[in-house]
Amino acid sequence: PANAFFSVALPIPPVKTPLFTFTSPQTGLPVDYFEVDIKPFTQKFYPQFPATRLVGYDGLFPGPTFKITQGRESIVRYINHADRPTSIHLHGSYSRSPFDGYADDTINVGEYKDYYYPNSQNARTLWYHDHAVHATAENVYFGQAGFYIMHDAQELATGIPQGDYDIPLGISAHRYNKDGSLWDPVINKEVTSVYGDVIEVNGQPWPFMKVEPRKYRFRLLDLGVSRTYKLYLLANQQNNKRVNFTVIGADAGLLAKPISIDTVTMSIAERWEVVIDFAGFSGQNITMMNERGVGADSDFEATDRVMRFVVGNIVTSTANNNIPAKLRDVPFPPPDSVATRTFEFARGNGEWQINGVTWSDVAERVLGRPQRGSIEKWTLKNGGGGWSHPIHIHLIDFQVIQRINSNRAVLPYEAVALQDVVWLGPGETVTVMARFAPWPGQYMFHCHNLIHEDHDMLAEFNVTQVAG
Ligand code: C2O
Ligand code: CU
Repeated sequence: PANAFFSVALPIPPVKTPLFTFTSPQTGLPVDYFEVDIKPFTQKFYPQFPATRLVGYDGLFPGPTFKITQGRESIVRYINHADRPTSIHLHGSYSRSPFDGYADDTINVGEYKDYYYPNSQNARTLWYHDHAVHATAENVYFGQAGFYIMHDAQELATGIPQGDYDIPLGISAHRYNKDGSLWDPVINKEVTSVYGDVIEVNGQPWPFMKVEPRKYRFRLLDLGVSRTYKLYLLANQQNNKRVNFTVIGADAGLLAKPISIDTVTMSIAERWEVVIDFAGFSGQNITMMNERGVGADSDFEATDRVMRFVVGNIVTSTANNNIPAKLRDVPFPPPDSVATRTFEFARGNGEWQINGVTWSDVAERVLGRPQRGSIEKWTLKNGGGGWSHPIHIHLIDFQVIQRINSNRAVLPYEAVALQDVVWLGPGETVTVMARFAPWPGQYMFHCHNLIHEDHDMLAEFNVTQVAG
């Protein structure tokens, strides 16, 4: 319904506060202790429909936002009052293997687990979400996802927008039944994709946000299940002229330098941080749009629009209103890889497979044993069928060094980024390079179209102490 567009304000998830802090006897660093209750709740998305039942962190979707400063460790106790087992992955953290949200390491209903996070990485946008074996799509779709934002001193000294001008935008797409309930992919036996016809930001369909005529930093995250976005901005009172984004950050933190561009592609679990400069648009609207025909995704009537910025006339603070020409020294891996591996992501035997293997092939699912500290090149091949596969490798930050067999190369903002997810579009082959560090152990890699992941495009690599 037309009156649903841009009529409700963008919700900003509350910031999570620790219950207490203590000093780690091992590291001497402060440790903040948090508790998150995973529980059912209801939320009204449309005035004319009944409320929708969801299950989320502290009964919220998205869950509360963690704001962490580098050098403070954290322990998060997740208490499972949901209706299914869960496992929690902090996506973007080089967590030790037992705290990485391994799919089979589930917390039963009524139980809890304490996860330890080192928070020693550079500033970045992380997110936490369910990773339970064969139930990740269902659990994330019904609400188990939230932001975890890390700051560091170098980033805070750059002069890029901070505080009230630093806004997380978690984008998702859902499908609803007429009674207001969510269309359920498991009940409906969906094994390929749920694109969703309702686009939400921070859980709210097509919201608006009042902004001041200055620069804002937005942390874009696709926290949905299957939909990929190609986002662009229209200045509505200027003949819908396109307005550029300045891309400043990726999954693994700030880019080497800002990239000004009119379209940002974002597949599932990717984070792109952008600055939008609203100066010069006082009293006008800028609408964030989504291109049609992105990858294999289905379009619906209103999936071409996302949210609207309503630009006011007053600037209350001019602090941190800059984008420096150089953002940081990005620790790109030196190009001296010791091992190369190739993984094909394809459909076979009615399943989604990696090199013919699925998560259920327990004896075969360790597909690589990188030596701890070594640099490897992984070539990721899309096995065809017109599908998109956003590929996520746990533990590491990688550099996208090549994209071939398609009509696009490495994107301008990918070329200056470290990432942990890369969009493997239809027909594409992408090579990534990374140092496999800092920890040894058992880690997952998979397609982040969560329906594919659950059916069963999920495998492991083991970081070993010796060459293997
Ligand atoms: Cu965002 Cu293996 O997950
Ligand atoms: Cu996939």
